[in-house]
Amino acid sequence: MSAASKTSGEATDMRAIPAGFENAHATPDVYREMYAASIADPDTFWGEQGKRLDWIKPYTRVKDTDFTYGKVSIKWYEDGVLNASVNCIDRHLKDRALQTAIIWEPDDPKTPAKHITYRELSRKVNQMANVLLSQGVMRGDRVVIYLPMIPEAAYAMLACARIGAIHSIVFAGFSPDALANRINDSGAKLVITADSAPRGGRRTPLKANTDAALLHCSDKVRCLVVKHTGDQTSWVQGRDVDVLAMMDMVSPECPPRPMNAEDPLFVLYTSGSTGKPKGVVHTTGGYLVYAAMTHQYVFDYKDGDIFWCTADVGWVTGHSYIVYGPLANGATTVMFEGVPTFPDAGRFWEVCEKHKVNQFYTAPTAIRALMGQGPEWVEKYDLSSLRVLGTVGEPINPEAWVWYDKHVGKGKCPIVDTWWQTETGGHMITSLPGAIEGKPGSATLPFFGVKPVILDAATAVRQGETEAEGVLCISDSWPGQMRTVWGDHERFQETYFSQYRGYYFTGDGCRRDKDGYYWITGRVDDVINVSGHRMGTAEVESALVAHAQVAEAAVVGYPHEIKGQGIYAYVTLMNGIEPTEDLRKELVKWVRNEIGPIASPDLIQWAPGLPKTRSGKIMRRILRKIAENDYGALGDTSTLADPSVVDDLIENRMNRA
Ligand code: WTA
Repeated sequence: MSAASKTSGEATDMRAIPAGFENAHATPDVYREMYAASIADPDTFWGEQGKRLDWIKPYTRVKDTDFTYGKVSIKWYEDGVLNASVNCIDRHLKDRALQTAIIWEPDDPKTPAKHITYRELSRKVNQMANVLLSQGVMRGDRVVIYLPMIPEAAYAMLACARIGAIHSIVFAGFSPDALANRINDSGAKLVITADSAPRGGRRTPLKANTDAALLHCSDKVRCLVVKHTGDQTSWVQGRDVDVLAMMDMVSPECPPRPMNAEDPLFVLYTSGSTGKPKGVVHTTGGYLVYAAMTHQYVFDYKDGDIFWCTADVGWVTGHSYIVYGPLANGATTVMFEGVPTFPDAGRFWEVCEKHKVNQFYTAPTAIRALMGQGPEWVEKYDLSSLRVLGTVGEPINPEAWVWYDKHVGKGKCPIVDTWWQTETGGHMITSLPGAIEGKPGSATLPFFGVKPVILDAATAVRQGETEAEGVLCISDSWPGQMRTVWGDHERFQETYFSQYRGYYFTGDGCRRDKDGYYWITGRVDDVINVSGHRMGTAEVESALVAHAQVAEAAVVGYPHEIKGQGIYAYVTLMNGIEPTEDLRKELVKWVRNEIGPIASPDLIQWAPGLPKTRSGKIMRRILRKIAENDYGALGDTSTLADPSVVDDLIENRMNRA
C-alpha cells in the first residue's frame, strides 16, 4: 500500500483491501470469474440473476437488445410477469414481518426516529394503493410525487408499483415551474405532496408550491396531501385530498397488479444538454434485478445489516438505493429527512452511531463540506458499526477519499466509488468491497455485465483495451438500462446512440490506466455537476433570459471547492439597463424561483457581448476557460466575429481564485 497521494491518477496508488475485511459475496477471484462469465454469455448470467426476484410468470427470454441507431430497442425478461411491490414487501412477510424495513430519521434530532417493520410497510403501501384506486388512478397512469424525505414517499412509490401506475418523483427542492413542467410532460393524473418539508431547520412550503404549479396544469389533476408538519395550507375542495385520513378508512389489502417485465415502473426527469429535462423511463423487471443485485454486491449487503444512503428519493440514487434495491433484498434501509450540517456538522456520524449503520453511502460534496469542519466532529461518535463506505455523484478528489478512509472508515472500511447515471438504473463502474482494490479517485472496474469502451471524442475510433483516454461508451445492454425518453423515443436515440454508432454514449469523459482502472474526468456535454446534481446549462440560461432585463445568457461550470462545480453565468443586459449589485441578487433569486436553489448561479459576470463565431454560435470553450481563470490558454480565437469581447470578459472575470 502506497502513501496517500495528493494527486489523482497515479496508477500505482493501489490500496490493499483492509486487513480482515471479508466480502460475503465475492472475492477477487469470484469477481474475475463472474465478470468473465457475464460478458461471455449474458443470457445465461442474467437468466440466473433474474431468479433473485419472485415472478408471477417466469420469463423464458432474457435479453433482446439492439443499439443500432434508428432501431434502438431494449428488452429484458420480456415475457416475464411480476409485481415490484410484491418483491419489495410481500415476499419478505413470511420470514421478516417484524424486521425493520425503514428507519426514518427526522430533520430535527429531538423528534423520535421511526422504525417501520415490513408488516407495517405492507399495511401502509396497500392502504395508499387503495387510496390511489379510489381516486381513479389506473394501470399505466402517471403519478407525480413531490414529497420530503418521509416514509410516505416510499409508500407512494410502492403503492404506484402495486397497482401498475408509473411514478415520477420531483425533487422537493424544485420550483413550482419545474414541477408544473414535469406534471405536464408526464401527463400525470395526480400529484402527491405534503404541507411542508423541514430541512436543516427551515421549511419549504410544498403544498403552496404545488398550488402554484397546478395553475399551469389541467384542472383534472388531483392532489393528495400528506399532513406532515401540520402547517396551515390552502385547500381546494374537490381537488385536494387528506391522504393520511383516507388511508385510515380504506382496506389494508390491495391485490398486486401482475405487470409485464417491460411495463414502466417510473419516469425520472433529468437534465440534458438541451433546455428541456428528459423523462428517463425505467421498466419493472430488469431495473429491479439490477438495483437488487448491485445493492447486494457493491455494498456487500448481508441479512441484518443496516444500510444508509443519504441521497434524496428525488434522485435516482434514492430510487435504487433507498427504496428498490434495499427493499427487494429485505434490508433495513435508513431514510434521512435532514442535511449533514444540521444542527451541527456531526449529524451524519450521530445518526450512524444511533442506528448502528453498517453501510454508509454519500456524495463527495458532503464529504468535502464536512472535511472542512474538522475531524473532531467525526471523532465524537462511535462508528465501529461501519463496514463499507460508498460515494456517488461526481469524481471524488483523492484528498476527500483519504479523509473519508482515515476519519470515518478508520482504515478498516473499503470505499466503493460508484460511477453510474439516472439512465443506467444502477452502478456501472465501481469497486466491490473486499474483491477489488481501490485507488483514491478512480471508480475502478466495471460491474458484472458492463462492457465500457473508450472512444476518441472526435474520430469515434475505439481505443485500446488498456491505457486510453476519450469519451466513455458502453458497448452492450445491461438490465437496468433506461428504455426510452418518456414520449420521445427519437430523442432517446438521438441523445444516446447517434453520436457514436452502435454504442450507448454516457456523456462522460474517461481515462483508463495501465491496470485497466477507469477514471471519470467529468461531462463532455453542456451538463454540469453541482454538488453531485446534474444541471443542464441550457436550463439555467433559459431561466435567465426569461427575466425582462436580460437579453442573453451563457452558463458554464467552474471548479468549486465544495460543490465540485459551481455555476458561472455570463449575462448580457437589455439595452439601457444598468448592471447593479441589486440586479445581480435579483437574478440569483429569479433562477432559484424558476428552477430551484440547486440552480442558483454562484457567479454572474456582466457581459456586454458574448464570444460568437461569424455564424452566431457562442464559443463556450472560451467562456469555460475564462470561468476557470485559465484565460492564458484560450486557443484559437481567430474565428470570432468580434475578438475584442474576449478582452473585456477577461478583464472583468469573476473567478480570480
Ligand atoms: C457523474 C447519479 C465520477 C457523471 C447516480 C455521470 C460520477 C453523472 C460518479 C450522472 C462517480 C456519477 N465518479 N462521476 N462515482 N457518479 N457521476 O444522472 O458525470 O444524477 O454522468 O446520476 O454524474 O448523474 P445522475
